[in-house]
Amino acid sequence: MMTITLIWGIVITVCCCLWIIFGIRRRKTGEPPLENGLIPYLGCALKFGANPLEFLRANQRKHGHVFTCKLMGKYVHFITNSLSYHKVLCHGKYFDWKKFHYTTSAKAFGHSSIDPNDGNTTENINDTFIKTLQGDALNCLSEAMMENLQLVLRPPNFPKSRSAAWVSEGMYAFCYRVMFEAGYLTLFGRDLTKTEAQRAQILNDLDNFKEFDRVFPALVAGFPIHVFKTAHQAREKLAEDLKHETLRTRDHVSELIRLRMFLNDTLTTFDDMEKAKTHLAVLWASQANTIPATFWSLFHMIRNPEAMKAASEEVNEALMNAGQTLSFEGNLISLNQTQLNDLPVLDSIIKEALRLSSASLNIRTAKKDFTLHLEDGSYNIRKDDIIALYPQLMHLDPEIYPDPLTFKYDRYLDANRKPKTTFYSNGVKLKYYYMPFGSGAMICPGRWFAVQEIKQFLILMLSYFELELVESHYKCPLLDQSRAGLGILPPLNDVQFKYKLKQLRRCA
Ligand code: HEM
Repeated sequence: MMTITLIWGIVITVCCCLWIIFGIRRRKTGEPPLENGLIPYLGCALKFGANPLEFLRANQRKHGHVFTCKLMGKYVHFITNSLSYHKVLCHGKYFDWKKFHYTTSAKAFGHSSIDPNDGNTTENINDTFIKTLQGDALNCLSEAMMENLQLVLRPPNFPKSRSAAWVSEGMYAFCYRVMFEAGYLTLFGRDLTKTEAQRAQILNDLDNFKEFDRVFPALVAGFPIHVFKTAHQAREKLAEDLKHETLRTRDHVSELIRLRMFLNDTLTTFDDMEKAKTHLAVLWASQANTIPATFWSLFHMIRNPEAMKAASEEVNEALMNAGQTLSFEGNLISLNQTQLNDLPVLDSIIKEALRLSSASLNIRTAKKDFTLHLEDGSYNIRKDDIIALYPQLMHLDPEIYPDPLTFKYDRYLDANRKPKTTFYSNGVKLKYYYMPFGSGAMICPGRWFAVQEIKQFLILMLSYFELELVESHYKCPLLDQSRAGLGILPPLNDVQFKYKLKQLRRCA
């Protein structure tokens, strides 16, 4: 017994020595200060995962604006000075933007590699997104979303249709249901012959989406989906409903999905289920951040009487100028791009809500050894290391945003009530001061559409309903930190609100 214990003791000591000698990276001249962490492979991952903002602030105090942390076997260089963000983006030729994203997408959604270098596809997916989510394509998407939102929000889908009674519901659950259904119809089209059956299918998909999305942070962290049996089943069911044979029976399928179907059929070697899983990735990208962003925009607007008043006035004026009359049975409200873009108060409310709730991690991988030249120094970076920006540090910096934890609906309005675009750090005007949609080559291609659809939702809520919180002095819910790094954080708990149809003009 003694001998076995002794042998184990020696083995463990030798492993520890080997790890200390060979496993721990040593900082070389010109490299940023280094935190290896105490746990082999994980490094600082547990501390980072527990509270990324506090972890980064503590390291910033200890090391300054640039430092390196070992996380899950990777060396990540955090650049935390917002004045340096534009400098980082100037080093694009040294970065591989795609490697991390392609690998993560394949792992999480279960399709083969979409990296053209791996030979399964020749589609340039970035080009497809830009072509189909921006410019002229945005007009069609936006029109379809406005129509679908009204289909979901207006009678007969509205519970207790036409009654003047208040309906109470969890606000997050409400935003989830409305945005998911309207967004799904907008991207994947409508089955005009089976409206009710399709609605039931979408609501079923909604439950599956929630189940799958719940484990998404674990999938990104590298856990295999087989560990999560129900989430795995949910993912397969979601993909089943996105197979090409089903989508071909739909009307008004978005340009994004039509083009992806065509390219998937011509440029890839994927089987039917894999093609469907690449559509599931698009569904996730279009919903996972938009839903919590919609919640926070509505919540802060309703909770702040001044914001609510300013937003209502702006919306009433915009509808009047556009000659739109509100009625439940009559025409749907419709605003074109120019009219939607000319709503600075709503823009400011949405920006402020996203500033307070966004926690995305912007990642690039170094293609080769190079020197990163920043505002406050130059740093040597090794091949395959990761450069990371965590814009939440900037969004909550009191020097840039005084009283940073308070929602101020007009923070992004200037003295003339026009969009405010000048923000300063250390007396220097910032090039980047608002980054919930990422940055550089990986910036969200759906950002214009995302803002349009949240705006449309707010316009319709203000136009058709009276809105109140059930408890008027409800404290702001905490952010769900388990999703930090992935984008907009949802609330940790739901908030009850009530809504009632406004007494609108009836059509003859
Ligand atoms: C408030 C809502 C949204 C936020 C905050 C948001 C944020 C982001 C961020 C931060 C990224 C980059 C991720 C990275 O660097 O790894 C991203 C990527 C992406 N987003 Fe969004 N997004 C939103 C809504 C949308 C919508 C409505 C769409 C529409 C389809 C969309 C489509 C995409 C796509 C396709 C990508 C991947 C781009 C690529 O891999 O080339 N997003 N989004």
